[in-house]
Amino acid sequence: MNNTSPIATDFRFRRLRRTGALRDLVRETRLHPSDFIRPIFVQEGIQEPVAIDSMPGVFRYPEEQLAEQVQASWKKGIRAVLLFGVSSHKDAIGADTWNDQGLMARMIRVAKAAQPEMCVISDNCFCEYTEHGHCGVVQGDDVDNDQTLVNLQKQVLVAARAGVDVIAPSGMQDGMVQALRRALDEGGFSHLPIMSYSTKFASAFYGPFRDAVDSNFKGSRNTYQMDPANPREALAESLQDEAEGADMLMVKPGLAYLDVLADIRAHTQRPLAVYQVSGEYAMIKASAQAGVIDEQAVALESLLAFKRAGADLIISYYADDAATWLVDSASK
Ligand code: PBG
Repeated sequence: MNNTSPIATDFRFRRLRRTGALRDLVRETRLHPSDFIRPIFVQEGIQEPVAIDSMPGVFRYPEEQLAEQVQASWKKGIRAVLLFGVSSHKDAIGADTWNDQGLMARMIRVAKAAQPEMCVISDNCFCEYTEHGHCGVVQGDDVDNDQTLVNLQKQVLVAARAGVDVIAPSGMQDGMVQALRRALDEGGFSHLPIMSYSTKFASAFYGPFRDAVDSNFKGSRNTYQMDPANPREALAESLQDEAEGADMLMVKPGLAYLDVLADIRAHTQRPLAVYQVSGEYAMIKASAQAGVIDEQAVALESLLAFKRAGADLIISYYADDAATWLVDSASK
């Protein structure tokens, strides 16, 4: 009726979808190889890569093969790796992590020597270095927050001395970022950034990872990781880490927590990472192998969803493949 209204009621959205070039021009979100961080598992005492059954295409590598893995990712356009050690020197407290000759320190040195320009990030935790598999010092039937922080301070100084580029504490202890910032600053590493696993949920999507790191872990992490039901607390956790000095924040897992990601994005100016975890990867792989979905299309659509929801960085077991797919499709 009101034909002079500035709002055209017969607006046609399809005009800008008509050709590939038009769609490219108006695309709001893009993936790029440099968005990705590749997690790499390194295991002590093996000679050949060991396949992780639940995560086809992901392996635990012997230390001798870490260098070539880092170089191969670099050539694909990946600019950051996240190192996980699978230790055979486990004890009650994870002391190998604060030994300058321990696995964590060696991995960092090897990765940096192999590709000095690569951003090398260490996953700073204890669960792969303790016999019980918890993310810190166990007292009674729980993890002691403040004793764990003291050990974590020692660990990150070892990682820093080994030449790490970014510290990534994943243990979900309170006051973690503040304690590590202080240790780094006092140790002469005020230039090293912290990417905190700031909002990390106690999630069943970590199942395949626990196979991957051979964790003896039994029980739950519900007293330190977050309840998946709590969106307000999820925001508060990340803002707390920002206040403590975190340089980058993170949401983990990814696809089941896009609301949380978008909410944190709206409340911080810090770079925000998301972790597409083992169970997310395993679900896509398994359904692709069952012939139910198109792996490449579903993987890229999921990764794009993280960008759309506000992630700047994406930690993913698909990093290498996605980088290759993106380059291939750009040259078509
Ligand atoms: C523990 C840790 C976890 C992951 C990485 N470090 C989770 C857990 O076992 O509770 C999960 C990664 C994944 O599932 O891909 N510090």
